[in-house]
Amino acid sequence: MNPMMNNKLLIANWKMNPQTEQQAIRLARAEDQKGIVICPPFPFLDGVKGKLKKAELGAQDLFWEDPPGGGPYTGEVSVLMLKRLGARYVIIGHSERRRWLGETDEMINRKVLSAARGGLKVILCVGEPLSVRKKGLNAAKQFVKSQLRKNLKSVRSPVIVAYEPIWAIGTGKPDHPEDTLKMVRFIREVAGFSRRVLYGGSVTSQNVKSFLCYKEIYGALVGGASLKAQEFRKIITIVKKL
Ligand code: PGA
Repeated sequence: MNPMMNNKLLIANWKMNPQTEQQAIRLARAEDQKGIVICPPFPFLDGVKGKLKKAELGAQDLFWEDPPGGGPYTGEVSVLMLKRLGARYVIIGHSERRRWLGETDEMINRKVLSAARGGLKVILCVGEPLSVRKKGLNAAKQFVKSQLRKNLKSVRSPVIVAYEPIWAIGTGKPDHPEDTLKMVRFIREVAGFSRRVLYGGSVTSQNVKSFLCYKEIYGALVGGASLKAQEFRKIITIVKKL
């Protein structure tokens, strides 16, 4: 772990952005600070890694099989490949992958096991859809608990959990920090030794403090705002001062 001095961690999840390696390197240079994990798309991992002095590198996914000599898995990337590129972290189970790629809890569990076995730090994403949240926070807690049970089955080492209510991702409508705090406390109880919990979902410089001011909230997973160098630097400055 390489968190900030106040022990907070910010993950920059660039998703399928930016469009060129040149842009990726420019953004990485602007965000290269202690306590930041930069997660570019696979094609830019190597170029970005070469420029980082303080931030750490993360991947946005991996495959669960990792035979030492490679294997017949078209389009997939193994834990060993990521480690050789200098990645230290990997995001697993993001709701966009659950939705668009049909990733199941079982697949996610296999990925978590593979990453943990291979020595990457896992950022496991969980979170409920709007239909569940509409039934109340307790319903959301039960949904998340079921995800954690399945995704962390047989996992014996700590992972970082990112609580990302699906309806808050990319919508400009973040969760209420008091509700997030309740959920984070709940996750810390049910996820056993995985007590580092992040919040993700429309985090900006306007709202980051309202989440990260709580000591139980270990950091943030930032999507859209991590693609704007100035805005992300503002977030870093605010978090550093907490
Ligand atoms: P957002 O994305 O900050 O754009 O809402 C967060 C995420 O999906 O990790």
